[in-house]
Amino acid sequence: MIDGPRDRPRRLRRTPAIRRLMAETRLHPAELILPMFVREGLDAPEAISSMPGVSHHSIDGLRRAVTEAAEAGIGGVMLFGIPVSKDATGSGATDDNGILNLATRAVIEEVGESIVVQTDLCLDEFTDHGHCGVLDAEGNVDNDASLERYRDMAIAQANAGSHLLGLSGMMDGQVAVVRDALDDNGFIDTAVLGYAAKYASAFYGPFREAVQSSLQGDRRSYQLDPANRREGLREILADVDEGADVVMVKPAMSYLDVLADAAATSPVPVWAYQVSGEYSMIEAAAANGWIDRRRAIEESVLSIRRAGADAVLTYWAVELAEWLRS
Ligand code: PBG
Repeated sequence: MIDGPRDRPRRLRRTPAIRRLMAETRLHPAELILPMFVREGLDAPEAISSMPGVSHHSIDGLRRAVTEAAEAGIGGVMLFGIPVSKDATGSGATDDNGILNLATRAVIEEVGESIVVQTDLCLDEFTDHGHCGVLDAEGNVDNDASLERYRDMAIAQANAGSHLLGLSGMMDGQVAVVRDALDDNGFIDTAVLGYAAKYASAFYGPFREAVQSSLQGDRRSYQLDPANRREGLREILADVDEGADVVMVKPAMSYLDVLADAAATSPVPVWAYQVSGEYSMIEAAAANGWIDRRRAIEESVLSIRRAGADAVLTYWAVELAEWLRS
């Protein structure tokens, strides 16, 4: 007979009741945010083949889908717009009648009281070259000229009623420029989310199809190198310093170390974006019967929360919220 260990962690894993009591992290619908796509010129939803279960919406379809999202009790929606025509400066982004600004007005009217309506503030869906900013004479992304576009885009989105602007372009100084522009124009209550640590990731692949991206080349001159952890924290601190109300790490699952660093340091909420590739990998594996879909979804989002995210952007937000409530 051996003496047996004195330390028996299994004691706290014995029954469902004890496991429930001991859980360190829990999911709740209020901390889930659904990214949604609205496309100009549609009159019915159109499935996105690279993201099974996700669709492009018309403005009317979007109204219905956000109502459903609000009823599911999730915390917010993040809107992306896909215009019919694109140009070098992304003029659709700053047009009050551009698809994203029109959709924002519609959504605010529909559910503006019950859910936080957020808008993507970046030029890539609106530019014909597909970059997140405007280009200089040599074809490089011009940081400071892009900031001028972001400033105008911020005013247009705030005017449309967006509660929170999601700055995803990764230009240096973007949070400060947008914060100043909002304050100067009386939008002191419009919040700013800095996509502070956004990495140049292969996991955006399905999204690029979703937004019909016209990108040539890549975004490595502005998005972070996946090799760098310290630099992620530097970007987080810079956005906090510039006045971000919330900061974000993106993608989520391959960057949980960066997320944990941010969560340990940031004085403002830290969110994470579970991106299209993370979504589609699980969907594809589940469709093949290789993993248990529901367990994989729950575990993936739980792990992002455990690493330190206060809220998670995920394409499963509504479905997950419904599971959590049932
Ligand atoms: C850029 C943007 C991207 C995503 C959201 N906003 C990616 C990119 O750099 O192309 C990715 C979201 C996803 O993959 O789900 N405005």
